[in-house]
Amino acid sequence: MCGIIGFVGNKKAAPILLNGLERLEYRGYDSAGIAVIKNGEFEIEKTVERISALKEATQNGEAVKGEIGIGHTRWATHGVPSEKNAHPHLGFKGRFAIVHNGIIENYFELKSELEAEGIAFASETDTEVIAHLLEKYYSGDVFGAISKTVSLLKGSYALGILCSEQPETLYAARNFSPLIIGLGEQENFIASDVTALVSHTKNVLYTKDGEIAVITKNKVDLFSLKGEKISREPTFISWNVDAAEKGGFDHFMMKEIKEQPDVIVKTFEPRIKNKEVFFEGLKLSDEKLKSINRIIITGCGSAYHTGVVAKYVFEELLKIPVEVDLASEFRYRNPVIDKNTLVMVISQSGETADTLAALKEAKSRGAYILGIVNVVGSSIAKEADDVIYTWAGPEIAVATTKAYSAQLIVLYLFGIYAAEKRKSASANLLNILLDEIRSLPPKIESVFKMEDTIKSLAKRHFKMGSVFFIGRNIDYGTAMEGSLKLKEISYINSEAYAAGELKHGTISLIEKGKIVIALSAFEPLRDKMMSNIKEVKARGAFVIATDIKGNSETHKEADEVLYIPKTHPLLLASVEIVPLQLFAYYVALYNKCDIDKPRNLAKSVTVE
Ligand code: M6R
Repeated sequence: MCGIIGFVGNKKAAPILLNGLERLEYRGYDSAGIAVIKNGEFEIEKTVERISALKEATQNGEAVKGEIGIGHTRWATHGVPSEKNAHPHLGFKGRFAIVHNGIIENYFELKSELEAEGIAFASETDTEVIAHLLEKYYSGDVFGAISKTVSLLKGSYALGILCSEQPETLYAARNFSPLIIGLGEQENFIASDVTALVSHTKNVLYTKDGEIAVITKNKVDLFSLKGEKISREPTFISWNVDAAEKGGFDHFMMKEIKEQPDVIVKTFEPRIKNKEVFFEGLKLSDEKLKSINRIIITGCGSAYHTGVVAKYVFEELLKIPVEVDLASEFRYRNPVIDKNTLVMVISQSGETADTLAALKEAKSRGAYILGIVNVVGSSIAKEADDVIYTWAGPEIAVATTKAYSAQLIVLYLFGIYAAEKRKSASANLLNILLDEIRSLPPKIESVFKMEDTIKSLAKRHFKMGSVFFIGRNIDYGTAMEGSLKLKEISYINSEAYAAGELKHGTISLIEKGKIVIALSAFEPLRDKMMSNIKEVKARGAFVIATDIKGNSETHKEADEVLYIPKTHPLLLASVEIVPLQLFAYYVALYNKCDIDKPRNLAKSVTVE
């Protein structure tokens, strides 16, 4: 996730900016840069290496003169990691330097208009349009240029802005991306999160959407876009640096669980336009899409589980055969593939060795490869014929949560997109699904309200020796993911089964007190699940079930029920996984496990 720092005061800015960027390193980044004004000119330093490389190049910032500056760590979304794409970006007359967090959804239109006016772009980023718009609308009034520019932007932004003609003022603006102002003695700061500030000041102003800040070393003024002055009391931050990195949570996993509603919005919002799905930069032509007669989905671990869910969604919407295979198996099979096969390769890191090998195998057999990847410019993104990015931002906990959720969203969107092009599902159903995708974030927020219930459930059962997750259809995919979450961070033996398979062997393991987590929220097959719950109850199991709020039947059969809000059954996995993530987290916590770095595991498995 990108990070912003800005400073104005009586000290050299560069050492403070570099120190702030180091504090933001934990968020993950692929490039970084700073801009400082001295004698009315910008000095800009960038790197595609670590912040330490910038420090080395500038003698810890001491070689860069100037007492006002902005800095940025970039996590690529538009354009590969490179120096030209790294921030700060300059406007076409060189008077504005800006850093930006967020995504400008209408950048393509804005860029085309600016290019038609003869303005040349130096980078592939969405951010650069903002720098050029500021130049275009500037005629001596920086505030006016900012308010005009941001009024044209659609999407999310936190901006740090410098104008070389106003070398004593730092400007900032925000919409749907966090931006904090740090208040010091004869010095003030901006940052995307408090981590970058807490070593300098604990007094901060939280900005709100649609606000512009005008900051000098002695003064901070907040304004609405119309120029009305806003007064706000500062907040005192009691966190230390470690707590600040985790957003006040004890672990990155919990921080990332709680980021899911936001990540889902970031992933779907730019892709839904006028009730239609649109994927920026997708090369797959409508003709090619219509010629596809089979889909194979591959990935490892949780990425594979999103494929299991997508199989049910795609078969419903696209009415063509869908196969899901573990990448580690697929690479050594003799898969029957031709040019009409679409192979979807799913990976958070984009570097998983087995997944990359599966991609190469499928490509060599003539399949069209669509990567679904979180890390821009990663090996899988580069090797695929096409790529759709999940905009989950960097994920730090080994156990994936927010990237898993973002993958599901991309898969739903792709299913809807392809069904629309192939006319394989009714427009009414596709519209309903799009509306339902929009309603997922508040539904997930409402699951968070069950956290205390889930925590006390975990407290009662954290010593369970082993556990079975069961489910049918989409709930089977969620059972697999819930089971993996629990086992990887709590080291409890946990297995997932398709509920109908119980009687073919597994049921012999059920005995008094054995915990069975029965996912029963998939309404079309709820009756079948009730029978499975009865079967295991009759053999002494303790059953924790999930179901849709308002359905009281499950409570008659199960010992505990976690009720989730109703959503369309095809999208159920997105809501139902959340209580399971929280359950896994608390079971691991009570077992005193290393939640963010479970034993024997790595975030990215780059070896076979
Ligand atoms: O980076 P990838 O999505 O390719 O990683 C795949 C798996 O290694 C990953 O999902 C793993 O199973 C997670 N630790 C699960 O939480």
